Amino acid sequence: MAENDEKYMKMCFALAKKGAGKVAPNPLVGCVVLDKKGNIAAKGYHKKYGQNHAERDALLKLKNNEAEGGTLYVNLEPCSHYGKTPPCVDLIIERKIARVVIGMKDVNPAVDGISKLKKAGIKVDFILEKEAEFLNRRFIKTMTRKLPYVVLKTATTMDGKIASHTGSSKWITREEARKLVYKMRKEFDCILTSSNTVLADNPAMETTSNQWKCILDKDLRTDKTFRIYSQGKIYIASKENTPLKNGKLDLESVLRELYKLEIYSVFVECGGTLAGALLKQGLIDEVYQFIAPKILNDNSGLSCFSNDKTDEISQAKPLRFYEIRKLGEDVLLKALCIK
Ligand SMILES: NC(=O)c1ccc[n+]([C@@H]2O[C@H](COP(=O)([O-])OP(=O)(O)OC[C@H]3O[C@@H](n4cnc5c(N)ncnc54)[C@H](OP(=O)(O)O)[C@@H]3O)[C@@H](O)[C@H]2O)c1
Repeated sequence: MAENDEKYMKMCFALAKKGAGKVAPNPLVGCVVLDKKGNIAAKGYHKKYGQNHAERDALLKLKNNEAEGGTLYVNLEPCSHYGKTPPCVDLIIERKIARVVIGMKDVNPAVDGISKLKKAGIKVDFILEKEAEFLNRRFIKTMTRKLPYVVLKTATTMDGKIASHTGSSKWITREEARKLVYKMRKEFDCILTSSNTVLADNPAMETTSNQWKCILDKDLRTDKTFRIYSQGKIYIASKENTPLKNGKLDLESVLRELYKLEIYSVFVECGGTLAGALLKQGLIDEVYQFIAPKILNDNSGLSCFSNDKTDEISQAKPLRFYEIRKLGEDVLLKALCIK
């Protein structure tokens, strides 16, 4: 490994993130090219679905072969197949790059860039693989499972309650946290909620006009008079278009249908019953939990996850915190579900 490999791979991560929200179902990819002397010759990233990949974006900025004998850093294995653009490995070979440093192997079975690079005599190294996989966790899920990436958001008291026994739930968290939720919604293709939550709270769940809202409503108990219907693209999962499992909508089938609609990320805002069912069926990838410095202290209050009884603490669902943030008086925890 060369001295600055980590530094340049982290630069690729930062460049890749600039494409967030614009490249799905493609991965987030950034690229840095060094010349033979180790100076940066070009940088690039994948800007939008269908447009140039990061390597091509960077290499096409070179006027001549000023990166000949140099190193190319990219956080994902370069592609070797014709997709919307020609193979990046061909351009890397053509530009006479001597070494390619990669973050992670591509999970797309159509990609075999590494062997092609090696066959051309290019040295290939890996660095920061775990970090690269974390960056592209949405892409890995959608590519390997053909299901959207699911994040469940919940706002709770310190004792994990989302409403009192009377259903009173406004407001648990303060303005700052709620404003952040409006912003977060924009990072997803679809907001998913339940008939119960629509009937209880009549939330607008504002999105952009291009975003979807999916309402799980087996018996079509909601209608267009509810605020959620006032904007966005609406998908209602009911017993008329979704198979049932134990008398309820089959949640995995709903997600598969959403994937067919080119929905690659879903933000779930619901109560404890649906959250508990999604968690139990292994359909949640991450939890965003906003916690207010309040304790309801009511055994009959609604819990953020309320499935059947679990006997042993060892049976609790394991997660891994990756971000903890203070938002005014409240706290936001972000955690990955460990499969
Ligand atoms: N604090 C927060 O972050 C937050 C967010 C949202 C809501 N809430 C609160 O949550 C409360 C509602 O909670 P809740 O537990 O009654 O409702 P919920 O969890 O939002 O939704 C329950 C509904 O989801 C569907 N569902 C539940 N389990 C399912 C399963 N296993 N398979 C398929 N579908 C399933 C059913 O709808 P269908 O039978 O119609 O399909 C069911 O009626 C409200 O008081 C609201 O204020 C709080």
